[in-house]
Amino acid sequence: MNEKPDTIYGRLLESVHISGYSFERACQKFKWLLTGGHWKTIGPGYDDIDKFIASINFAEFKISIEQRKEIAKMLEVEHATQRATARMLGVHHSTIAQDLGGNPPKPELEAASIQDIIENIGGNPPNTSSGAEVAKMAEKVIEKENRKLALKEKIASEKSIEIKDLPNIDLRIGDFKSVLSDVYNIDAIITDPPYPKEYLSCFSDLSKYASEHLKEDGFCVVYSGQYNLPEVIKRMSEYLTYVWTFCLYHVGKKQLVNGVNIMCGWKPVLIFSRGRKKMRYSAYDIVESKEREKNLHEWQQSESGVTGLIEIFTEPGQLIVDPFTGSGTFLKMAHLMNRKAIGAEIDTKKG
Ligand SMILES: C[S@@+](CC[C@H](N)C(=O)[O-])C[C@H]1O[C@@H](n2cnc3c(N)ncnc32)[C@H](O)[C@@H]1O
Repeated sequence: MNEKPDTIYGRLLESVHISGYSFERACQKFKWLLTGGHWKTIGPGYDDIDKFIASINFAEFKISIEQRKEIAKMLEVEHATQRATARMLGVHHSTIAQDLGGNPPKPELEAASIQDIIENIGGNPPNTSSGAEVAKMAEKVIEKENRKLALKEKIASEKSIEIKDLPNIDLRIGDFKSVLSDVYNIDAIITDPPYPKEYLSCFSDLSKYASEHLKEDGFCVVYSGQYNLPEVIKRMSEYLTYVWTFCLYHVGKKQLVNGVNIMCGWKPVLIFSRGRKKMRYSAYDIVESKEREKNLHEWQQSESGVTGLIEIFTEPGQLIVDPFTGSGTFLKMAHLMNRKAIGAEIDTKKG
């Protein structure tokens, strides 16, 4: 090029200006074709808007968000599919869904920093500078988060299903001591006995049952109220070994307990075993309970709380028993998490 840099620079600015102007004009023409169904009369005639817009490609242009939204709305009126619109505009179809006021795309984990991901989700980054080890751990953490997301969707889709319609759930009506007497090799008992004082003997019965029916290395995970906690621990210790107290933290909703004038935001979940003290994997002892559904049973527990416990104390395919089933929240969640589940409920109206 023999021309001066200034001249070339001037031409460059001019070209950029013209291409912007040309694109603007192209947009105007496109919008005009969309109004009044003009696009249908082009050439031999289009009858499908998706086919028409497939013949135009705006993907290479830097289109403003406002312009994109305007075009997406116009195309929606013409019944173009979001995918065809997205292809034409060179964006992901979830962007168009959002532009049109639909559901935002599912959150995806951003791998901003592997260490951040691990720490954000409550894991301990390994004491190592090896990138490979950190990446491996991050992969596991992401897998776990993805499993949680998938479970959430599964729970939402099966929410209305009644427990009696679910396969692999064996709900027996009657006193658990007799109706569950033939069930052995239990991987975990996860249960929520009644808390009032007059039911305290249930905890002695449960302790005996668990000591005889749990696998050698299984755990008995028991919800308890606060009032009679010392007596509950005493009774559960009659045949079992005390391991730990987990905190089931009630996110959002708190309850004023009048007798003691305390605003209560958590529930003790007691862990007992046949002697084993150590968890298989390191576990965090605070489990969140997001909402407290009470549409089926006055004592109904939250689904989100128990899923955390099922994840900690069992593996897929293992057997969970709930001797105090109530509305069946624990059995249903066990089933959704691919565990086998057996329960007992003494009250025929509830089971
Ligand atoms: C606190 S509720 C369980 C609530 C349950 N977690 C839910 O989310 O719906 C305790 C249940 O145990 C039942 N129950 C009490 N004694 C029992 C026994 N010996 N055998 C079987 N069920 C019993 C009660 O009828 C009650 O429905």
